[in-house]
Amino acid sequence: MANLFFVPQNIITGENAVQMSMQYIQAFGKKALIVTDDAMVSLGNVKKLTDELDKIGTEYAVYSGINSEPTHSMIDEGVEIYKGKGCDFLIGIGGGSPMDSMKAIAAVAANGGSIKEYRGKKLEKQLPNTVTIPTTAGTGSEATKVSIITNTDANVKMLLSDPRLMATLAVVDPVFTLTAPPGVTVATGVDALTHAIEAYTSLKAFPMSDIFAVSAVKKIFSNIYEVYTNGSNVASRREMATAAQEAGIAFSNASVTIVHGMSRPIGALFHIAHGLSNAQLLGVCLKYLKSGAVAQLCDLAKAIGVYRPDMTPEEGADAFVTATADLLRSLNIKTLQECKVPEADFFNQIPKMAEEALAIGSPGNTRRTPNKDDIMALYKELWQEGL
Ligand SMILES: NC(=O)c1ccc[n+]([C@@H]2O[C@H](COP(=O)([O-])OP(=O)(O)OC[C@H]3O[C@@H](n4cnc5c(N)ncnc54)[C@H](O)[C@@H]3O)[C@@H](O)[C@H]2O)c1
Ligand SMILES: [Fe+2]
Repeated sequence: MANLFFVPQNIITGENAVQMSMQYIQAFGKKALIVTDDAMVSLGNVKKLTDELDKIGTEYAVYSGINSEPTHSMIDEGVEIYKGKGCDFLIGIGGGSPMDSMKAIAAVAANGGSIKEYRGKKLEKQLPNTVTIPTTAGTGSEATKVSIITNTDANVKMLLSDPRLMATLAVVDPVFTLTAPPGVTVATGVDALTHAIEAYTSLKAFPMSDIFAVSAVKKIFSNIYEVYTNGSNVASRREMATAAQEAGIAFSNASVTIVHGMSRPIGALFHIAHGLSNAQLLGVCLKYLKSGAVAQLCDLAKAIGVYRPDMTPEEGADAFVTATADLLRSLNIKTLQECKVPEADFFNQIPKMAEEALAIGSPGNTRRTPNKDDIMALYKELWQEGL
């Protein structure tokens, strides 16, 4: 079977990537809309970018209204600013939320209508040039053809996936991630780990996506605990930034599976950050999918060095599942109860969440494909047994 492999047109990585990107950005347009959040403004990250834009004489307007995971009204507002200020290209700087928002604003600016109508829609018209600058090592949005926007009227996290959402230029400077606090570092890092594991075990995986997935799993196992406990370690931050991007490329091509499918309804209904709900679900879901993905999980055990030659493939797969559970425990991920999710509400919503998870489609890519009863049982197990 043949597969098409998608990556951004250009990627610049490493310290001072923003400075280097200016020679390309100069040709992208006359005025940029910078999409970001208030934290990026107060941390000085937006100024680092605008100082460089000033040097090349490129104009810009700043929209810093993405102060939670993006909602449809934030996108509406961004489109108005883009048009009102006469912008002709876009730069998203921040975590996945500003980068996804920037892509969604670009999509609506080119294709019209309201973002609420974009679920499952093919983007007919080419987007203006887009630049992604991540400040978390997590979503990989800088290098994916995906944008996730919550329609708050329907309480649904919409997954937009279209090759036109791939950035023209991704600019990855790990130095931006140094200020991420431990909670954000862990949640976003486990999001990246989940992308890589899901891509590698997906029914849609293929050799090119596998290369990126395995490389990301290795780097994250070696570095996530270090960046959690010693956030100023630049070498480890660099490894995590690269891994997040690799994991993004892997899943953008091979798709995610059950964890992301089950995670989105939890995020939409109980307002738990994307990375955290993935981290909560990863252990439970790995135990579930293991019997369908023994060979793949055994490969990952070899990649992270927990496989021994006397092990059967089954034991190898178990070794990976155990190593992941141990890693998650060491990262002190909050449970649903610790996030103050009300028990009765959670249980009442289980049938709706299971339907929504299946409607998202990604659980269908799992090698042990779940039905609604399986997913409902997993939500119950998640509540009762924790991580
Ligand atoms: N497009 C994709 O391919 C893709 C993949 C996975 C997730 N997502 C989406 O991405 C969003 C989540 O993105 P995220 O996990 O990066 O979080 P985020 O962008 O929501 O940021 C989380 C918090 O961390 C802060 N922050 C970010 N960088 C920081 C830094 N360097 N220093 C200090 N604080 C910093 C932000 O201000 C914010 O308060 C969700 O909406 C999720 O659905 C998208
Ligand atoms: Fe994710």
